[in-house]
Amino acid sequence: MNATVIGSQLGDEGKGAVVDVLGSEADVVVRYQGGDNAGHTVTHRGEEYRLRLLPSGVVRGKLGVLGNGCAVNFGTLFDEVDRLRERGLDPDVRVSGRAHVVLPSHRVLDGASESARSDDDLAVGTTGNGMGPAYEDKAGRRGVRIAEVLRPDALRERLEYTIPRHRELADAVYGIDPDGALPDGPAADSDDAADAFDVDAVFERLRSFGDRLAADDVVVDAGPFLAERQREGATILFESAQGTQIDLDHGNYPYVTSSNPTAGGAVVGTGVGPETVADGAVVGVVKAYLSRVGCGPMPTELDAEAATVFRERVDGFGTVTERPRRIGWLDLPVLRTATRVNGFSGLAFTHVDSLGGLDELRVCTGYELDGERVRQVPMTSAAWRQCTPEYEQLEPWPDCDWEAVAADGYDALPENARTFVEFVSDDLGVPVVAVGVGPDREATVVRRNPLADEPLSGAN
Ligand code: IMP
Repeated sequence: MNATVIGSQLGDEGKGAVVDVLGSEADVVVRYQGGDNAGHTVTHRGEEYRLRLLPSGVVRGKLGVLGNGCAVNFGTLFDEVDRLRERGLDPDVRVSGRAHVVLPSHRVLDGASESARSDDDLAVGTTGNGMGPAYEDKAGRRGVRIAEVLRPDALRERLEYTIPRHRELADAVYGIDPDGALPDGPAADSDDAADAFDVDAVFERLRSFGDRLAADDVVVDAGPFLAERQREGATILFESAQGTQIDLDHGNYPYVTSSNPTAGGAVVGTGVGPETVADGAVVGVVKAYLSRVGCGPMPTELDAEAATVFRERVDGFGTVTERPRRIGWLDLPVLRTATRVNGFSGLAFTHVDSLGGLDELRVCTGYELDGERVRQVPMTSAAWRQCTPEYEQLEPWPDCDWEAVAADGYDALPENARTFVEFVSDDLGVPVVAVGVGPDREATVVRRNPLADEPLSGAN
């Protein structure tokens, strides 16, 4: 049996920890979209591993695959591999030759586009890692695929077409001199930024990455590669990055990422069919409250003062950008939307401990929009912004010895915490398969690992 793990909200749900725990039963863990805009944290025995690009399963020694739907920044890829090696791990990673390369110019253009949009109050709040421009080039059929990096002639030809277009865009649209100093921003700080628009320099840099890819023999055609693992009896875990509400098609456009973190994305982003991808198990990761880095509506958002107080209780800053996370109450319309889009068969709650000791606990059960009751997220961001949340008050639970709770299992959760997760589960019609009460691997109470196909543990 395989499984897919998906963020049900706005990203930062704690997918890394869930993949790490459920992945104990997997042989292969596959990322199928996005790139180093993601931030997945895996904590084991107090050791924290922060990954942006590699599948979280590599920390457990699983075979990690980056599917064709990913956009790969080679600097991050090799940096993460090297850093894990320095910490005594031996990551086994394969990269689809069909995945696209994030060029230094993509990152510069990402920053330039955001800064131009912010002049008109239209910024998306991207992570600045070049995702938008890289996926634009993919759709525009100008992108560089990883397999091409291994073929100098093809690479040169592609760059000679693409980089001049980036130069034109930089100069004519964003007013950046492609041969001059770059505007301030994350892209300007990287060591490959200075010659981001120079075909020769980019070619040489990619060639040296290509030499390492060839030496490490990591490039595969992910579809046939995974199908073969499947035939050999391997169990595969598909790991999404970001969350359903920032999916390019099903999220709150335009405040979205440029790929599809939803279940369908796993099919397109790997090259194997839906029956292999989900194989009956699609786990939605539900953070016990809502958080968002980046711009866009968030009807249950706390006011600035309450958010500041809440952020002090939790790690309230983005893993990649370190921006303060916006905070809101759990929002059922968001979760109903995610359940429909992804077809969740199980829910994995995270950060349930973070709500311990609150004076008040609210769950948004629907919105009021133009006099109508709305149960899912509306089609446009403008409409979502106008939604007024309707809340149900639930009884909060006290802070407690979460380590002991985790050790004792589901029934040891404070009764009100169980009521909370079961309230959500009943509304969505999806069982709770795991509850996270702390960052450590041991702090996730697993009621049923879909990969092991066990019955649910604990009373319901
Ligand atoms: P991009 O993916 O960098 O283009 O950013 C587009 C939107 O997605 C922005 O609102 C980002 O803050 C958000 N985003 C991208 N990756 C993540 C993530 O891993 N967690 C949470 N939000 C993300």
